[in-house]
Amino acid sequence: MRKKIVAGNWKMNLTVQEGLQLSAEIADFVKNNPLEKLNGNPAVIMFTPFTHVYSVSDSVKGLKGLSTGAQNCHTEEKGAFTGETSVSMIKSAGALNVLVGHSERRAYFGETNEVLARKVKAAMDAGLTPMYCCGEVLEERNASNHFEVVKEQLEKGLFWLSAEEFAKVVIAYEPVWAIGTGVTASPGQAQEMHAYIRGLIKDKYNNEVAENTSILYGGSCNAKNAAELFANKDVDGGLIGGASLKAEDFCTIIQSF
Ligand code: PGA
Repeated sequence: MRKKIVAGNWKMNLTVQEGLQLSAEIADFVKNNPLEKLNGNPAVIMFTPFTHVYSVSDSVKGLKGLSTGAQNCHTEEKGAFTGETSVSMIKSAGALNVLVGHSERRAYFGETNEVLARKVKAAMDAGLTPMYCCGEVLEERNASNHFEVVKEQLEKGLFWLSAEEFAKVVIAYEPVWAIGTGVTASPGQAQEMHAYIRGLIKDKYNNEVAENTSILYGGSCNAKNAAELFANKDVDGGLIGGASLKAEDFCTIIQSF
């Protein structure tokens, strides 16, 4: 059965000290409310800035179901790539996950589906779980191109993987027009796209792989609307930006299954 997941994307926010304060509050919640006893038995991930990965990972070590991730990685293992961070560095810092292809990376840093495919490969080779982000911009939705755009992102970024490899990937559907805008996709819009994505996976691989793939929704998901989004059959949790920076809100979202 596929896993329910709530992931916080801290983006470029919080000092290390502030991040440790936030992770301590989330860890306290998990200690008092073991995740396996909550509805849906969700896994919880904190995608922190690189500078925070080691200390935040260390601070939550041993807490079942709670892990960390980096928000990006480089395609190469090591070498003369000043300012970059490799998957083995991320792993050695204690993270289990890495975000690949967040729309801000695509838009501001020119990351193409082709580069992202190499990042997915690097992550998997290192034993990290890649969370691959996809989603259309507003013009694409208004032109009714959203299904095609997401299909291409998945085909180029992921669908070259074998079924065995694909089984290790998590997908986050994040309509770009909903990210940080306060405009959330309606539960119907989210369900429609998630079902479409699951159908593509079924066509490419098989029903079992499709049914076992976790597909998260992201884009202005918050403590108030998480429950109605997560109630949809094909929505397996959320990738949370702004609302992941407040422990109380994030912990409410964790309990929204
Ligand atoms: P948001 O961000 O929740 O602040 O809209 C989501 C994301 O970018 O992952």
